[in-house]
Amino acid sequence: MLNFDFYNPTQILFGEGQIASLAKHVPANARVLLVYGGGSIKQNGVYDEVIAALAGHHVTEFSGVEPNPSYETLMRAIEQVKAEKIDFLLAVGGGSVIDGTKFIAAGALLDEDPWTILEKHGANVSKAMPFGAILTLPATGSEMNSASVVTRKSTQEKFAFMNRNVYPKFAILDPSKTYSLPVRQVGNGVVDAFAHVMEQYMTYPVNAKVQDRFAEGLLLTLIEEGPQALANPDDYDVRANVMWCATLALNGLIGSGVPQDWATHMVGHELTALYHLDHAQTLAVIMPSMLRVRKEGKRAKLLQFAERVWGLTGGDQDTRIEAAITRMEEFFEKMGVKTRLGDYGLAAKDIDAVLAVLEKHRMVKLGEHRDVTLAVTRKVLELSL
Ligand code: NZQ
Ligand code: ZN
Repeated sequence: MLNFDFYNPTQILFGEGQIASLAKHVPANARVLLVYGGGSIKQNGVYDEVIAALAGHHVTEFSGVEPNPSYETLMRAIEQVKAEKIDFLLAVGGGSVIDGTKFIAAGALLDEDPWTILEKHGANVSKAMPFGAILTLPATGSEMNSASVVTRKSTQEKFAFMNRNVYPKFAILDPSKTYSLPVRQVGNGVVDAFAHVMEQYMTYPVNAKVQDRFAEGLLLTLIEEGPQALANPDDYDVRANVMWCATLALNGLIGSGVPQDWATHMVGHELTALYHLDHAQTLAVIMPSMLRVRKEGKRAKLLQFAERVWGLTGGDQDTRIEAAITRMEEFFEKMGVKTRLGDYGLAAKDIDAVLAVLEKHRMVKLGEHRDVTLAVTRKVLELSL
């Protein structure tokens, strides 16, 4: 196992009815800005519950944070924070709203243009406003991590930043608030969480038995419960298991002390920025080809994945590995997330543009061995057509 330093200060409040406890976690004299997206929280009752729970607080609102939150929109929120002397943020929504709130929290206290936070991947953030999160879409893990991904529409750039000042102070996870998710977002969420586990698990063995078995437990649970969430959308326990999987998939725990990959995510972010695929759609397209092309470097872990996650033990190694990757692909499809570039209207002619932006953003040595060069990525994209 590699040396590691594990830190996570986010308090989790999990279960049905937890929104009612909100007032205990937001400072009584705070000037609160409620940050949300396009309005799903008004349709499923979450907004009303939040407003009722904060009846004694000073609360104003900022709405319209879009999926793949944009710098342009978030800068307007920062202006509002300054104009209204806001000192506490409350994100209510999916990963985009929570990521956006992290950017607002850090950007509002920065002396330079907040876009530099993305350019420097968070290195220039030394403080941030406190904030809490109410999660309505299990997927990104943003509710319990220090990462945020922001898009600059004008330049078609989608960059991530990380900083320990932007962990949520608390996160409320009420699985019953996910009943209203459209099928597409249920599928996206399960695929994203699955990919997060894989990015931290599917590398090479370092004898980190706890991390490996936790990771396999999360994958097995997603495989078991993901399709159930589509089949029985109002089953509380299914939603609860999916929600807790997504949070634990990217709160730092399973990634501690192990090598990490993230090449699929980096290529995926460019596909979203250029061609507007949903985040999870990019992962479903790229990950199977990424594993096929990089099979040699990942052989030991692919065999472990085949055996422990898919129960594949017979046949020669290469057959088992291919079967495991195919099972994963079929699982993504079962979740309603298509796995070929062609399914999203993209073709061979669209690949050069992806490679050009990866080069521009210096994403030319990705992966746990830093051997995912542009030539490797080209092969991956060609195999994904
Ligand atoms: O905007 P509203 O109206 O709220 O609707 C949203 C949105 O249209 C809707 N939705 C959310 N909860 C709902 C609901 N609809 C009905 N009922 C509910 N309970 O779902 C749509 C998608 O929401 P979004 O927040 O965009 O999805 P997701 O949570 O998948 O977040 C995706 C973003 O997170 C980033 C992605 O790149 C993308 O920008 N990521 C963040 C990470 C992190 N912070 O650690 C890691 C990830 O790898 C990822 O990159
Ligand atoms: Zn992701």
